[in-house]
Amino acid sequence: MKIETRIADPLKYPTPALIIGCFEDSENELFINCDAMLGGYLRRIIAGKEFCGKVNSSRLIDTLGKLQAERLLLVGLGKKSELNVEQLRQAAGGSMQALKVARISSFASALHLSWMAKTALEAVCEGTLLGSYAFEQYKTKDRAERFNFEEMTLLQPKETDGKADIARIERTKTICEGVRLARDLVSQPGNVVTTGYLADTAMEIAARHSLGCRIYEQSELEKLGMNALLAVGKGAAEPPRLIVLEYNGCDTKGRPVVLVGKGITFDSGGISIKPGAGMEEMKTDMAGGAAVLGAMAAVAGLKLPVNLVAIVPTAENMPDGKAYRPGDVLTSLSGTTIEITNTDAEGRLILCDALHFAQKYKPTALIDLATLTGACVVALGHEASGLMGNDQRLVDALKAAGERCGERLWQLPLWDEYGEAMKSDIADLKNAGSRDGGSITAGWFLKQFVGKNRWAHLDIAGTAWSDKHRPYSPKGATGVGVRLLIEYLSVI
Ligand code: BES
Ligand code: MN
Ligand code: ZN
Repeated sequence: MKIETRIADPLKYPTPALIIGCFEDSENELFINCDAMLGGYLRRIIAGKEFCGKVNSSRLIDTLGKLQAERLLLVGLGKKSELNVEQLRQAAGGSMQALKVARISSFASALHLSWMAKTALEAVCEGTLLGSYAFEQYKTKDRAERFNFEEMTLLQPKETDGKADIARIERTKTICEGVRLARDLVSQPGNVVTTGYLADTAMEIAARHSLGCRIYEQSELEKLGMNALLAVGKGAAEPPRLIVLEYNGCDTKGRPVVLVGKGITFDSGGISIKPGAGMEEMKTDMAGGAAVLGAMAAVAGLKLPVNLVAIVPTAENMPDGKAYRPGDVLTSLSGTTIEITNTDAEGRLILCDALHFAQKYKPTALIDLATLTGACVVALGHEASGLMGNDQRLVDALKAAGERCGERLWQLPLWDEYGEAMKSDIADLKNAGSRDGGSITAGWFLKQFVGKNRWAHLDIAGTAWSDKHRPYSPKGATGVGVRLLIEYLSVI
Protein backbone atom coordinates (compact mmCIF):
# COMPACT_ATOMS: atom_id res chain seq x y z
CA MET A 1 0.00 0.00 0.00
CA LYS A 2 1.18 3.49 -0.85
CA ILE A 3 1.30 5.91 2.09
CA GLU A 4 1.49 9.67 1.67
CA THR A 5 1.11 12.68 3.88
CA ARG A 6 -0.77 15.77 2.87
CA ILE A 7 -1.18 19.07 4.67
CA ALA A 8 -4.96 19.43 4.59
CA ASP A 9 -8.03 20.00 6.72
CA PRO A 10 -9.82 16.63 7.15
CA LEU A 11 -13.18 18.39 6.82
CA LYS A 12 -12.26 19.69 3.38
CA TYR A 13 -10.37 16.75 1.94
CA PRO A 14 -12.14 14.78 -0.82
CA THR A 15 -11.62 11.03 -0.37
CA PRO A 16 -13.65 7.80 -0.62
CA ALA A 17 -13.35 7.46 3.16
CA LEU A 18 -11.94 9.41 6.09
CA ILE A 19 -10.91 7.64 9.29
CA ILE A 20 -11.30 9.54 12.54
CA GLY A 21 -10.62 8.41 16.11
CA CYS A 22 -13.35 8.66 18.78
CA PHE A 23 -12.93 8.44 22.52
CA GLU A 24 -15.38 6.73 24.81
CA ASP A 25 -15.36 9.51 27.37
CA SER A 26 -14.73 12.73 25.50
CA GLU A 27 -15.30 14.37 22.15
CA ASN A 28 -12.33 15.66 20.18
CA GLU A 29 -12.50 18.71 17.97
CA LEU A 30 -12.62 16.78 14.72
CA PHE A 31 -15.54 14.67 15.95
CA ILE A 32 -17.44 17.81 16.98
CA ASN A 33 -16.82 19.47 13.60
CA CYS A 34 -17.83 16.38 11.62
CA ASP A 35 -20.95 16.05 13.76
CA ALA A 36 -21.88 19.67 13.07
CA MET A 37 -21.53 19.17 9.31
CA LEU A 38 -23.62 16.00 9.51
CA GLY A 39 -26.40 17.77 11.38
CA GLY A 40 -25.80 15.99 14.70
CA TYR A 41 -25.86 12.48 13.19
CA LEU A 42 -22.72 11.33 15.00
CA ARG A 43 -24.07 12.27 18.40
CA ARG A 44 -27.32 10.44 17.58
CA ILE A 45 -25.34 7.28 16.81
CA ILE A 46 -23.57 7.62 20.15
CA ALA A 47 -26.83 8.35 22.00
CA GLY A 48 -28.39 5.26 20.42
CA LYS A 49 -25.36 3.22 21.57
CA GLU A 50 -24.74 2.00 18.02
CA PHE A 51 -21.15 3.04 18.49
CA CYS A 52 -19.63 4.31 21.68
CA GLY A 53 -15.89 4.65 21.05
CA LYS A 54 -14.84 1.43 22.79
CA VAL A 55 -11.42 0.05 21.87
CA ASN A 56 -11.43 -2.08 18.73
CA SER A 57 -14.91 -1.06 17.62
CA SER A 58 -15.73 0.91 14.50
CA ARG A 59 -18.65 2.28 12.53
CA LEU A 60 -18.72 3.22 8.84
CA ILE A 61 -21.23 5.84 7.73
CA ASP A 62 -22.11 7.49 4.45
CA THR A 63 -21.78 11.28 4.57
CA LEU A 64 -24.41 11.82 1.82
CA GLY A 65 -22.46 14.73 0.37
CA LYS A 66 -22.36 16.70 3.62
CA LEU A 67 -18.61 16.22 3.98
CA GLN A 68 -15.92 16.18 1.31
CA ALA A 69 -15.21 12.59 2.35
CA GLU A 70 -17.78 10.19 0.88
CA ARG A 71 -17.73 8.06 3.99
CA LEU A 72 -16.56 8.42 7.53
CA LEU A 73 -15.07 5.54 9.49
CA LEU A 74 -15.37 6.16 13.22
CA VAL A 75 -12.79 4.14 15.12
CA GLY A 76 -13.02 3.59 18.87
CA LEU A 77 -10.01 4.59 20.99
CA GLY A 78 -11.38 3.91 24.49
CA LYS A 79 -10.76 6.33 27.34
CA LYS A 80 -8.75 9.40 26.43
CA SER A 81 -6.36 9.16 29.39
CA GLU A 82 -5.64 5.50 28.63
CA LEU A 83 -4.68 5.89 24.98
CA ASN A 84 -1.25 4.47 24.19
CA VAL A 85 0.79 3.50 21.18
CA GLU A 86 -0.46 -0.10 21.14
CA GLN A 87 -4.09 0.97 21.18
CA LEU A 88 -3.48 3.31 18.28
CA ARG A 89 -1.75 0.51 16.35
CA GLN A 90 -4.73 -1.75 17.05
CA ALA A 91 -7.22 0.94 16.04
CA ALA A 92 -5.42 1.45 12.73
CA GLY A 93 -5.13 -2.29 12.13
CA GLY A 94 -8.74 -2.97 13.05
CA SER A 95 -9.98 -0.28 10.69
CA MET A 96 -8.43 -2.20 7.78
CA GLN A 97 -10.97 -4.98 8.31
CA ALA A 98 -13.86 -2.51 8.18
CA LEU A 99 -12.53 -0.93 4.98
CA LYS A 100 -11.90 -4.31 3.40
CA VAL A 101 -15.49 -5.42 4.01
CA ALA A 102 -16.69 -2.20 2.35
CA ARG A 103 -14.08 -2.61 -0.41
CA ILE A 104 -12.61 0.85 0.10
CA SER A 105 -9.08 0.68 -1.24
CA SER A 106 -8.01 4.33 -1.02
CA PHE A 107 -8.70 6.44 2.00
CA ALA A 108 -7.50 9.30 4.17
CA SER A 109 -6.72 9.04 7.86
CA ALA A 110 -6.86 11.51 10.70
CA LEU A 111 -6.48 8.79 13.28
CA HIS A 112 -2.97 9.88 14.25
CA LEU A 113 -4.29 13.34 15.13
CA SER A 114 -6.13 11.82 18.10
CA TRP A 115 -2.89 11.54 20.01
CA MET A 116 -0.41 14.35 20.45
CA ALA A 117 2.64 12.11 20.50
CA LYS A 118 5.43 11.95 17.93
CA THR A 119 4.97 8.19 17.68
CA ALA A 120 1.31 8.50 16.62
CA LEU A 121 2.19 8.62 12.94
CA GLU A 122 4.36 5.48 13.12
CA ALA A 123 1.74 3.65 15.15
CA VAL A 124 -0.97 4.37 12.57
CA CYS A 125 1.28 3.39 9.65
CA GLU A 126 2.38 0.22 11.40
CA GLY A 127 -1.15 -0.85 12.32
CA THR A 128 -2.34 -0.09 8.78
CA LEU A 129 0.42 -1.98 6.99
CA LEU A 130 0.31 -4.99 9.31
CA GLY A 131 -3.48 -5.07 9.54
CA SER A 132 -3.92 -5.08 5.77
CA TYR A 133 -1.72 -8.17 5.31
CA ALA A 134 -3.21 -11.16 3.50
CA PHE A 135 -1.64 -14.35 2.19
CA GLU A 136 -3.66 -15.27 -0.89
CA GLN A 137 -1.13 -16.79 -3.26
CA TYR A 138 -2.90 -20.13 -3.44
CA LYS A 139 -6.46 -18.81 -3.83
CA THR A 140 -6.87 -19.23 -7.58
CA LYS A 141 -10.60 -18.57 -7.94
CA ASP A 142 -12.21 -15.15 -8.38
CA ARG A 143 -8.85 -13.47 -8.81
CA ALA A 144 -10.47 -10.54 -10.63
CA GLU A 145 -12.62 -9.75 -7.60
CA ARG A 146 -9.70 -9.88 -5.21
CA PHE A 147 -9.51 -6.78 -3.03
CA ASN A 148 -6.27 -4.84 -2.65
CA PHE A 149 -5.55 -1.73 -0.65
CA GLU A 150 -4.03 1.02 -2.76
CA GLU A 151 -3.35 4.18 -0.86
CA MET A 152 -3.58 5.87 2.51
CA THR A 153 -3.19 9.64 2.85
CA LEU A 154 -2.28 10.84 6.33
CA LEU A 155 -3.70 14.31 6.82
CA GLN A 156 -1.38 16.68 8.66
CA PRO A 157 -1.83 20.14 10.14
CA LYS A 158 -0.04 23.15 8.63
CA GLU A 159 2.95 23.34 10.92
CA THR A 160 4.23 19.79 10.35
CA ASP A 161 7.70 18.93 9.15
CA GLY A 162 7.05 16.99 5.97
CA LYS A 163 10.58 15.62 5.72
CA ALA A 164 10.46 14.15 9.22
CA ASP A 165 7.08 12.60 8.39
CA ILE A 166 8.49 10.94 5.28
CA ALA A 167 11.43 9.56 7.26
CA ARG A 168 9.08 8.10 9.87
CA ILE A 169 6.90 6.49 7.23
CA GLU A 170 9.90 5.03 5.39
CA ARG A 171 11.25 3.57 8.62
CA THR A 172 7.90 1.99 9.44
CA LYS A 173 7.56 0.58 5.93
CA THR A 174 10.98 -1.06 6.17
CA ILE A 175 10.10 -2.68 9.49
CA CYS A 176 6.73 -3.87 8.18
CA GLU A 177 8.45 -5.32 5.09
CA GLY A 178 10.53 -7.44 7.49
CA VAL A 179 7.37 -8.60 9.24
CA ARG A 180 5.76 -9.34 5.88
CA LEU A 181 8.74 -11.46 4.85
CA ALA A 182 8.54 -13.45 8.09
CA ARG A 183 4.75 -13.88 7.74
CA ASP A 184 5.08 -15.03 4.13
CA LEU A 185 7.76 -17.59 5.00
CA VAL A 186 5.66 -18.98 7.86
CA SER A 187 2.45 -19.01 5.78
CA GLN A 188 4.06 -20.91 2.92
CA PRO A 189 3.62 -24.69 3.17
CA GLY A 190 6.40 -27.15 3.91
CA ASN A 191 6.52 -28.35 0.30
CA VAL A 192 7.52 -24.84 -0.75
CA VAL A 193 9.59 -23.50 2.13
CA THR A 194 12.28 -26.16 2.24
CA THR A 195 15.77 -25.73 3.69
CA GLY A 196 16.91 -24.75 0.19
CA TYR A 197 14.16 -22.13 -0.07
CA LEU A 198 15.25 -20.55 3.22
CA ALA A 199 18.85 -20.53 1.99
CA ASP A 200 17.78 -18.86 -1.29
CA THR A 201 15.78 -16.27 0.66
CA ALA A 202 18.83 -15.49 2.79
CA MET A 203 20.98 -15.10 -0.33
CA GLU A 204 18.42 -12.71 -1.82
CA ILE A 205 18.45 -10.59 1.33
CA ALA A 206 22.25 -10.60 1.26
CA ALA A 207 22.36 -9.55 -2.39
CA ARG A 208 19.84 -6.76 -1.85
CA HIS A 209 21.70 -5.28 1.12
CA SER A 210 25.31 -6.33 0.37
CA LEU A 211 25.53 -8.58 3.41
CA GLY A 212 27.98 -11.37 4.04
CA CYS A 213 26.22 -14.68 3.43
CA ARG A 214 27.34 -18.25 3.79
CA ILE A 215 25.27 -21.40 3.41
CA TYR A 216 26.88 -24.46 4.99
CA GLU A 217 25.75 -27.49 3.00
CA GLN A 218 25.50 -31.02 4.37
CA SER A 219 29.09 -32.03 3.53
CA GLU A 220 30.44 -28.93 5.31
CA LEU A 221 28.25 -29.59 8.33
CA GLU A 222 29.76 -33.08 8.44
CA LYS A 223 33.28 -31.63 8.33
CA LEU A 224 32.43 -29.17 11.10
CA GLY A 225 30.84 -31.91 13.22
CA MET A 226 27.35 -30.42 13.53
CA ASN A 227 25.98 -33.86 14.25
CA ALA A 228 22.90 -32.76 16.18
CA LEU A 229 21.69 -30.65 13.24
CA LEU A 230 22.61 -33.43 10.80
CA ALA A 231 20.77 -36.08 12.84
CA VAL A 232 17.51 -34.16 12.78
CA GLY A 233 17.68 -33.84 8.99
CA LYS A 234 18.53 -37.47 8.30
CA GLY A 235 15.00 -38.68 7.63
CA ALA A 236 14.23 -35.97 5.06
CA ALA A 237 14.80 -35.86 1.32
CA GLU A 238 15.84 -32.21 1.57
CA PRO A 239 19.26 -31.88 3.27
CA PRO A 240 19.82 -29.79 6.41
CA ARG A 241 21.69 -26.50 6.09
CA LEU A 242 23.18 -23.78 8.24
CA ILE A 243 22.45 -20.26 7.02
CA VAL A 244 24.65 -17.37 8.16
CA LEU A 245 24.14 -13.67 7.32
CA GLU A 246 26.49 -10.92 8.48
CA TYR A 247 25.76 -7.20 8.62
CA ASN A 248 28.22 -4.50 9.61
CA GLY A 249 26.44 -1.31 10.57
CA CYS A 250 29.19 0.11 12.73
CA ASP A 251 32.89 -0.35 13.48
CA THR A 252 33.87 -3.49 11.56
CA LYS A 253 35.87 -4.82 14.50
CA GLY A 254 33.00 -4.34 16.96
CA ARG A 255 31.55 -7.52 18.45
CA PRO A 256 28.13 -8.33 16.99
CA VAL A 257 24.76 -9.24 18.37
CA VAL A 258 24.05 -12.76 17.14
CA LEU A 259 20.52 -13.93 16.40
CA VAL A 260 19.72 -17.63 16.05
CA GLY A 261 16.37 -18.83 14.68
CA LYS A 262 14.94 -22.35 14.63
CA GLY A 263 14.36 -23.35 11.01
CA ILE A 264 12.47 -26.65 11.03
CA THR A 265 10.60 -26.43 7.73
CA PHE A 266 8.20 -29.16 8.83
CA ASP A 267 8.06 -30.99 12.15
CA SER A 268 6.32 -34.35 11.86
CA GLY A 269 7.96 -35.40 15.11
CA GLY A 270 10.12 -37.93 13.24
CA ILE A 271 10.07 -41.51 14.56
CA SER A 272 8.40 -40.16 17.75
CA ILE A 273 5.70 -39.07 15.32
CA LYS A 274 3.10 -36.47 16.30
CA PRO A 275 -0.65 -37.16 16.28
CA GLY A 276 -2.24 -36.35 12.89
CA ALA A 277 -4.73 -33.76 14.13
CA GLY A 278 -3.25 -30.31 13.72
CA MET A 279 0.04 -31.57 12.32
CA GLU A 280 -0.33 -29.15 9.38
CA GLU A 281 0.47 -26.29 11.77
CA MET A 282 4.00 -27.69 12.03
CA LYS A 283 4.85 -25.93 8.76
CA THR A 284 5.27 -22.96 11.10
CA ASP A 285 8.21 -24.56 12.90
CA MET A 286 10.64 -22.29 11.07
CA ALA A 287 9.04 -19.13 12.50
CA GLY A 288 12.14 -18.37 14.60
CA GLY A 289 14.31 -18.54 11.50
CA ALA A 290 11.79 -16.43 9.57
CA ALA A 291 11.84 -13.78 12.32
CA VAL A 292 15.62 -13.67 12.28
CA LEU A 293 15.69 -13.28 8.47
CA GLY A 294 12.95 -10.63 8.58
CA ALA A 295 14.79 -8.73 11.31
CA MET A 296 18.08 -8.91 9.40
CA ALA A 297 16.43 -7.55 6.24
CA ALA A 298 14.87 -4.70 8.22
CA VAL A 299 18.05 -3.86 10.18
CA ALA A 300 20.02 -3.66 6.93
CA GLY A 301 17.23 -1.66 5.27
CA LEU A 302 17.22 0.79 8.18
CA LYS A 303 21.03 0.87 8.22
CA LEU A 304 20.99 0.54 12.01
CA PRO A 305 24.38 1.26 13.58
CA VAL A 306 24.95 -2.25 14.93
CA ASN A 307 26.90 -5.31 13.89
CA LEU A 308 24.55 -8.22 13.51
CA VAL A 309 24.86 -11.89 12.61
CA ALA A 310 21.83 -14.04 11.81
CA ILE A 311 22.16 -17.83 12.02
CA VAL A 312 19.41 -20.20 10.91
CA PRO A 313 19.97 -23.92 11.35
CA THR A 314 17.40 -25.53 9.07
CA ALA A 315 16.20 -29.11 8.59
CA GLU A 316 13.02 -31.10 8.06
CA ASN A 317 12.07 -33.54 10.82
CA MET A 318 10.72 -36.65 9.09
CA PRO A 319 10.37 -40.38 9.85
CA ASP A 320 12.23 -42.66 7.42
CA GLY A 321 14.56 -45.66 7.27
CA LYS A 322 17.44 -43.22 7.51
CA ALA A 323 15.92 -41.09 10.26
CA TYR A 324 17.52 -40.69 13.67
CA ARG A 325 15.81 -42.72 16.35
CA PRO A 326 15.10 -42.80 20.09
CA GLY A 327 18.09 -44.30 21.87
CA ASP A 328 20.64 -42.85 19.44
CA VAL A 329 23.55 -41.01 20.99
CA LEU A 330 24.91 -37.96 19.16
CA THR A 331 28.12 -36.04 19.67
CA SER A 332 27.14 -32.41 19.18
CA LEU A 333 29.45 -29.73 17.77
CA SER A 334 30.46 -28.73 21.32
CA GLY A 335 31.53 -32.32 22.08
CA THR A 336 28.66 -32.78 24.55
CA THR A 337 26.98 -36.13 23.93
CA ILE A 338 23.19 -36.33 23.76
CA GLU A 339 20.96 -39.35 24.16
CA ILE A 340 17.81 -39.06 22.05
CA THR A 341 14.76 -39.98 24.07
CA ASN A 342 12.28 -38.27 21.78
CA THR A 343 12.90 -37.34 18.13
CA ASP A 344 10.16 -34.70 18.46
CA ALA A 345 12.44 -32.65 20.74
CA GLU A 346 14.40 -31.71 17.60
CA GLY A 347 14.44 -27.93 17.92
CA ARG A 348 16.89 -27.90 20.81
CA LEU A 349 19.19 -30.21 18.80
CA ILE A 350 19.52 -27.98 15.78
CA LEU A 351 19.81 -24.97 18.10
CA CYS A 352 22.48 -26.46 20.35
CA ASP A 353 24.85 -26.80 17.40
CA ALA A 354 23.96 -23.33 16.09
CA LEU A 355 24.42 -21.74 19.53
CA HIS A 356 27.80 -23.38 19.97
CA PHE A 357 28.76 -22.25 16.45
CA ALA A 358 27.62 -18.69 17.32
CA GLN A 359 30.21 -18.45 20.11
CA LYS A 360 32.97 -17.95 17.56
CA TYR A 361 31.58 -14.46 16.90
CA LYS A 362 32.16 -13.46 20.54
CA PRO A 363 28.68 -11.94 20.63
CA THR A 364 27.81 -9.01 22.90
CA ALA A 365 24.41 -10.67 23.09
CA LEU A 366 23.19 -14.00 21.77
CA ILE A 367 19.44 -14.25 21.23
CA ASP A 368 17.59 -17.29 19.93
CA LEU A 369 13.98 -17.50 18.79
CA ALA A 370 12.21 -20.82 18.42
CA THR A 371 8.79 -22.45 18.27
CA LEU A 372 10.32 -24.78 20.81
CA THR A 373 7.71 -26.32 23.10
CA GLY A 374 4.02 -27.10 23.30
CA ALA A 375 4.47 -26.59 27.05
CA CYS A 376 5.01 -22.88 26.41
CA VAL A 377 1.58 -22.70 24.79
CA VAL A 378 0.12 -24.44 27.84
CA ALA A 379 1.86 -22.00 30.19
CA LEU A 380 1.32 -18.66 28.43
CA GLY A 381 -1.30 -19.30 25.77
CA HIS A 382 -1.06 -17.02 22.76
CA GLU A 383 -0.59 -13.66 24.48
CA ALA A 384 3.11 -13.77 25.32
CA SER A 385 6.28 -15.53 24.22
CA GLY A 386 8.35 -17.37 26.83
CA LEU A 387 11.60 -15.65 27.80
CA MET A 388 14.61 -17.19 29.50
CA GLY A 389 18.25 -16.24 29.78
CA ASN A 390 21.46 -16.10 31.77
CA ASP A 391 21.76 -12.32 31.96
CA GLN A 392 19.01 -10.36 33.67
CA ARG A 393 19.92 -7.08 31.98
CA LEU A 394 19.48 -8.62 28.54
CA VAL A 395 16.24 -10.30 29.62
CA ASP A 396 14.91 -7.00 31.00
CA ALA A 397 15.92 -5.08 27.87
CA LEU A 398 14.08 -7.58 25.67
CA LYS A 399 11.04 -7.55 27.92
CA ALA A 400 10.92 -3.74 27.80
CA ALA A 401 11.28 -3.78 23.99
CA GLY A 402 8.37 -6.22 23.88
CA GLU A 403 6.15 -3.91 25.95
CA ARG A 404 6.94 -1.00 23.65
CA CYS A 405 6.19 -2.80 20.40
CA GLY A 406 3.23 -4.88 21.59
CA GLU A 407 4.98 -8.28 21.38
CA ARG A 408 4.87 -9.30 24.99
CA LEU A 409 7.37 -11.60 26.68
CA TRP A 410 7.14 -13.38 30.02
CA GLN A 411 10.17 -14.68 31.88
CA LEU A 412 10.48 -18.24 33.15
CA PRO A 413 13.25 -19.33 35.55
CA LEU A 414 16.27 -21.43 34.58
CA TRP A 415 17.44 -22.66 37.97
CA ASP A 416 20.08 -25.40 37.99
CA GLU A 417 17.65 -27.84 39.61
CA TYR A 418 15.74 -28.05 36.35
CA GLY A 419 18.78 -29.79 34.85
CA GLU A 420 18.07 -32.96 36.84
CA ALA A 421 15.37 -33.88 34.34
CA MET A 422 17.86 -33.79 31.47
CA LYS A 423 20.41 -36.25 32.90
CA SER A 424 21.05 -39.38 30.85
CA ASP A 425 22.30 -42.79 31.99
CA ILE A 426 24.40 -43.25 28.88
CA ALA A 427 25.39 -39.73 27.69
CA ASP A 428 26.05 -36.23 29.05
CA LEU A 429 22.47 -35.12 28.46
CA LYS A 430 19.22 -36.45 27.08
CA ASN A 431 17.17 -34.35 24.71
CA ALA A 432 13.79 -34.68 26.41
CA GLY A 433 12.68 -34.92 30.01
CA SER A 434 9.18 -35.43 31.35
CA ARG A 435 6.32 -33.04 30.51
CA ASP A 436 6.83 -31.12 33.74
CA GLY A 437 8.26 -27.66 33.17
CA GLY A 438 8.76 -28.57 29.52
CA SER A 439 9.63 -25.05 28.29
CA ILE A 440 12.13 -24.52 31.08
CA THR A 441 13.92 -27.86 30.66
CA ALA A 442 14.20 -27.06 26.93
CA GLY A 443 15.65 -23.65 27.80
CA TRP A 444 17.98 -25.25 30.35
CA PHE A 445 19.21 -27.62 27.64
CA LEU A 446 20.05 -24.68 25.34
CA LYS A 447 21.85 -22.91 28.17
CA GLN A 448 24.44 -25.70 28.20
CA PHE A 449 25.62 -24.59 24.76
CA VAL A 450 26.07 -20.82 25.13
CA GLY A 451 29.19 -20.78 27.28
CA LYS A 452 29.70 -17.57 29.21
CA ASN A 453 27.98 -15.40 26.61
CA ARG A 454 25.07 -13.13 27.49
CA TRP A 455 22.16 -15.12 26.12
CA ALA A 456 18.38 -15.02 25.94
CA HIS A 457 15.94 -17.55 24.53
CA LEU A 458 12.45 -16.73 23.24
CA ASP A 459 9.95 -19.56 22.96
CA ILE A 460 7.47 -18.34 20.32
CA ALA A 461 5.47 -21.59 19.99
CA GLY A 462 2.27 -19.84 21.14
CA THR A 463 2.74 -16.51 19.36
CA ALA A 464 4.06 -17.31 15.87
CA TRP A 465 0.65 -18.38 14.59
CA SER A 466 -2.80 -17.12 15.50
CA ASP A 467 -6.04 -19.05 15.04
CA LYS A 468 -8.01 -15.83 15.38
CA HIS A 469 -7.96 -12.37 13.84
CA ARG A 470 -6.13 -9.81 15.90
CA PRO A 471 -6.42 -6.08 15.19
CA TYR A 472 -3.16 -5.77 13.28
CA SER A 473 -2.38 -9.43 12.80
CA PRO A 474 -4.89 -11.27 10.63
CA LYS A 475 -5.46 -14.97 11.35
CA GLY A 476 -2.35 -17.03 10.54
CA ALA A 477 1.32 -16.11 10.69
CA THR A 478 2.05 -13.17 12.99
CA GLY A 479 5.68 -12.45 12.11
CA VAL A 480 6.37 -12.26 15.85
CA GLY A 481 9.95 -11.39 16.77
CA VAL A 482 10.78 -9.05 13.89
CA ARG A 483 9.47 -5.84 15.47
CA LEU A 484 10.73 -6.96 18.86
CA LEU A 485 14.29 -7.42 17.61
CA ILE A 486 14.25 -4.09 15.73
CA GLU A 487 12.95 -2.37 18.85
CA TYR A 488 15.67 -3.97 20.96
CA LEU A 489 18.44 -3.27 18.43
CA SER A 490 17.35 0.34 17.95
CA VAL A 491 18.09 1.31 21.53
CA ILE A 492 21.26 -0.61 22.43
N1 BES B 1 7.78 -27.65 17.22
C1 BES B 1 7.39 -28.30 18.42
C2 BES B 1 6.77 -27.36 19.45
C3 BES B 1 5.49 -26.66 19.07
C4 BES B 1 4.29 -27.13 19.56
C5 BES B 1 5.50 -25.52 18.30
C6 BES B 1 3.12 -26.46 19.26
C7 BES B 1 4.31 -24.86 17.98
C8 BES B 1 3.12 -25.33 18.46
C9 BES B 1 8.60 -28.97 19.06
O1 BES B 1 9.57 -29.44 18.20
C10 BES B 1 8.12 -30.16 19.83
O2 BES B 1 7.62 -31.06 19.22
N2 BES B 1 8.28 -30.14 21.15
C11 BES B 1 7.89 -31.21 21.97
C12 BES B 1 8.98 -31.47 22.98
C13 BES B 1 8.80 -32.73 23.77
C14 BES B 1 8.89 -33.93 22.86
C15 BES B 1 9.84 -32.79 24.85
C16 BES B 1 6.59 -30.81 22.65
O3 BES B 1 6.41 -29.64 22.97
O4 BES B 1 5.73 -31.66 22.81
MN1 MN C 1 9.15 -31.40 17.53
ZN1 ZN D 1 9.66 -28.51 16.40
